[in-house]
This record gives sequence, C-alpha cells and structure tokens, in this order.
Amino acid sequence: MAETILQVEDLEIEFTVSKHRSVSVVQGLSFIMEKGSTLAVVGESGCGKSITAKAILQLLPAGISRFAKGRILLDGLDLTGLSAREMRGIRGRRISMIFQEPMTSLNPVQRIGRQMIEALLAHRKISGSRAKEIAIDMLKKTGLPDPENRIREYPHELSGGMRQRVMIAMALLASPELLIADEPTTALDVTIQAQILKLLGDIKQSMNTSIMLITHDMGVVAEMADSVMVMYAGKIVEHAPVKELFHGPLHPYTEGLLKSTPRLDTEELHAIEGTVPSPSNMPKGCHFSTRCNRCMERCRKEEPPLYTNNGHRVSCWLYV
Ligand SMILES: Nc1ncnc2c1ncn2[C@@H]1O[C@H](COP(=O)(O)OP(=O)(O)OP(=O)(O)O)[C@@H](O)[C@H]1O
Ligand code: SF4
Ligand SMILES: [Mg+2]
Repeated sequence: MAETILQVEDLEIEFTVSKHRSVSVVQGLSFIMEKGSTLAVVGESGCGKSITAKAILQLLPAGISRFAKGRILLDGLDLTGLSAREMRGIRGRRISMIFQEPMTSLNPVQRIGRQMIEALLAHRKISGSRAKEIAIDMLKKTGLPDPENRIREYPHELSGGMRQRVMIAMALLASPELLIADEPTTALDVTIQAQILKLLGDIKQSMNTSIMLITHDMGVVAEMADSVMVMYAGKIVEHAPVKELFHGPLHPYTEGLLKSTPRLDTEELHAIEGTVPSPSNMPKGCHFSTRCNRCMERCRKEEPPLYTNNGHRVSCWLYV
C-alpha cells in the first residue's frame, strides 16, 4: 500500500471579520496525499486553496485567523501542535512552497547566490564553497542559463521565468518531502509555463517529492496530477484520481469547471453563472446551491456529506 506523506483531518480555519464575529473560510477539510504523488487543488478564486496551503505551512495571517479545528499530519507528525521554532525547522526543510510571485520569497536586495548559500548553511553543516557548488548545481537542474555567473545577480536583474526557476531551486535546496506550488506559472508566458511544469514533473521523478499543485488551469491538471481535489466555498466538493475526474465528474460544480475549460475539439465554452459566495454570506445547506442547475429542495436546507465510493469522493445529495 502507498505510504502517506500528508494527512489533513477535519481542518477548519476562521478569520475575524469584526470585534465579535469570525467566519470559517475553510471547513471540514480532510484528505490524504500519498508519498511521491501530485495532488492538484482546483476551484475558482476565493474557494480556500491558498488558505489551505498556508495552513499546512502555518503561515496564516497572525492575529486575524486561527485554526478552529483539525490536525495536519506530516508523515505522522502533527504540525498544529508545533511551536513557531519547531515549525521553522520544518519549513524549507521538509515542506517548501513556491508562490505565484517569486518576489514573495526572494530578497530583492541580496544576490541570489548569497540567498541560496545562506539558506543551505542554515540547515546543513557544510563549507561555504560546498554550499555554492550545491546552489549552482540546483540552478542548473532548473535549467537556468549560466548559473555560475547568474548567482552574482540580484533578483531584479533576472527575467520572470528566471526568477521562478531561482525560487524553485531555493525551494528544492533541502530536498523537501512535500512541495506546495501555489499557481506557480500563472504570471509567466506560455512557453516558460510549459518549461516550469516539465521541470516540476522531472523533479518529482528524480527526487520522489510529493507535490501539491494549486492551479486554475485544467490543462495543467490533466498533464501533471495523479489526483484532483475540487474546492468550492471553503469545502472539498469532489476528490478523485485524475482520469476518473476528467472522464466521469460527479459534482455539478466540477462539471461546470470542466465545461468552462477551452478544448480543441469544440468551440463550445460554458461559464458557471454567478459567483462564489463570500464566507460571511454562505447559503444554508449546500454551498453551491445558489448556482447549481440541479438544485433540489433538500439542497437548500441540509449540507451534503462528503461521500466516498471506491476512492472517489463527492459532496452532493445526488449521490447519497
Ligand atoms: N487576510 C484575509 N482576511 C480575511 N479573509 C481572507 C484573508 N485571506 C483570505 N481570506 C478569505 O478566505 C477565503 C479563501 O481565500 P484563498 O486566498 O484561500 O482563496 P483561493 O482559493 O486561493 O483564491 P485565488 O484563486 O484567488 O488565489 C476567501 O473568501 C478570502 O476572502
Ligand atoms: S447538493 Fe444539490 S445544490 Fe449541491 S451540488 Fe448537489 S444537486 Fe447541486
Ligand atoms: Mg490563492
């Protein structure tokens, strides 16, 4: 049986919206990631994808958000019980994150080589010259041209695609067991996007890294993922192996997402009408009921459970 790298159990994250009121932005989130697998997380803007990623890394905005419930187990270790210091030992070492905008994780006033060498020396007892060799080697792996000279440059001297490669190299320095990539290619042009995605695929193969890939792009999901988790308004609505999800989507929201993805064999493109409800104005019952064309009376009253059948999970009254 495949080993588990990450297990999230009944996670709930709350944000404070006023002095006496908080709202759940993520609720009842439970899922498992297998070692060496790629899990794609999809859903429209505001569905809770980034908040879930930040919760795993314990990078939620301090003071306004909190873990209301749940556990996050990394290879059996509950991250929610760790101190800030213990968590610093996990971030960058066992779990790394790459963001949509590389400048979020690169220091603009430090040469990239120095940033990488310092990151290495913080975690490993090696000489400065060995750290430099490892940094150059990792940059080479990401396909950055001329890394021996580029490491002397500042982030602003690099192109967007090059910065993304540097950020990926930084994230991989410590050979993390889990890499969380939050829209890693959205800001890049199409050819660079393809190169970066190929790079992530190669890394997964050669380093057996598990990847959580957050994306809006169903084409990327089809190419990269082993399984797909569809989120809607803070909840998982469907989770299935990638082929099963594409060939037999069950949830009306997943059907809508797939129909709104451009395809070569048809010009038809459907949009899902309406917008994702805000966490402070969530409809009673099924969160998708305000936009669902198969909505029944029961849907407006009761929330459907996340039902599992042969590894395919769906939260919809049509299947219970
Ligand atoms: N700092 C914050 N304060 C209050 N609410 C927040 C904050 N950050 C996120 N939220 C709320 O949490 C919900 C989930 O946000 P999240 O950033 O996870 O969405 P997302 O699925 O990543 O969307 P996108 O595709 O646009 O990146 C949203 O409703 C958002 O309004
Ligand atoms: S539970 Fe009802 S409203 Fe929700 S997705 Fe299913 S059919 Fe639509
Ligand atoms: Mg996001």
